[in-house]
Amino acid sequence: MTDPIDAQASLEGVLKDEIIRMYQEVADNPEADFHFYHGREAAELFGYDRALLARAPAGAVSSFAGVGNPHLRANIQEGEAVLDLGSGAGLDAIIASWETGPSGRVVGVDLNPSMCHKAQAHAAATGTEMECREGKMEDIPLSDSSIDVVISNGVINLSFQKRRVVEEVFRVLKPGGRLSITDIVSGKQLSQSIVNDPKLWAS
Ligand SMILES: C[S@@+](CC[C@H](N)C(=O)[O-])C[C@H]1O[C@@H](n2cnc3c(N)ncnc32)[C@H](O)[C@@H]1O
Repeated sequence: MTDPIDAQASLEGVLKDEIIRMYQEVADNPEADFHFYHGREAAELFGYDRALLARAPAGAVSSFAGVGNPHLRANIQEGEAVLDLGSGAGLDAIIASWETGPSGRVVGVDLNPSMCHKAQAHAAATGTEMECREGKMEDIPLSDSSIDVVISNGVINLSFQKRRVVEEVFRVLKPGGRLSITDIVSGKQLSQSIVNDPKLWAS
């Protein structure tokens, strides 16, 4: 019989590959069909300011793969340090960098180094800056109490270790810091056939 710990480790490995593949595909080929909203259509649906979308690089908008709009509640102020967990092609981080201005800083963290390169290139194309660190939300590559605001959009649902992610978020937040997360939750227990399907989990 398969050890449940080995089975989970193997599912996690497959899931990681599928997550990297799926969001890389959205970034490289945004015109393809996906079974989730993405790009400008999604951003407009979630209430992103159209003027900000017009100012953002086309690639960051077309590759947007969030599930909501964390800026509606984040209230980011000039000079703040912001972490965008799972920053993808960078749209949320770029908007955050406009809000913090040059006296603040925005750090993205993403599992996929090529998403990090894309996000930084998109930011540079608009004349703003964000630093993206390759890393895992379950082990955030930032020091304790270093961040004023954590934003995240459509990412935490992808983790096998959601409690660990929340612990990490609170570790990096300064005392009195804030978080604004938009994500997917299910009100009912998902069937094993869904839970064990990396394509469904990854999307
Ligand atoms: C659904 S996309 C969302 C991207 C971005 N937040 C947006 O709104 O467009 C998920 C992103 O999270 C990253 N990601 C997935 N699992 C991760 C993990 N364990 N740690 C860090 N990033 C992760 C993926 O590589 C991908 O870029």
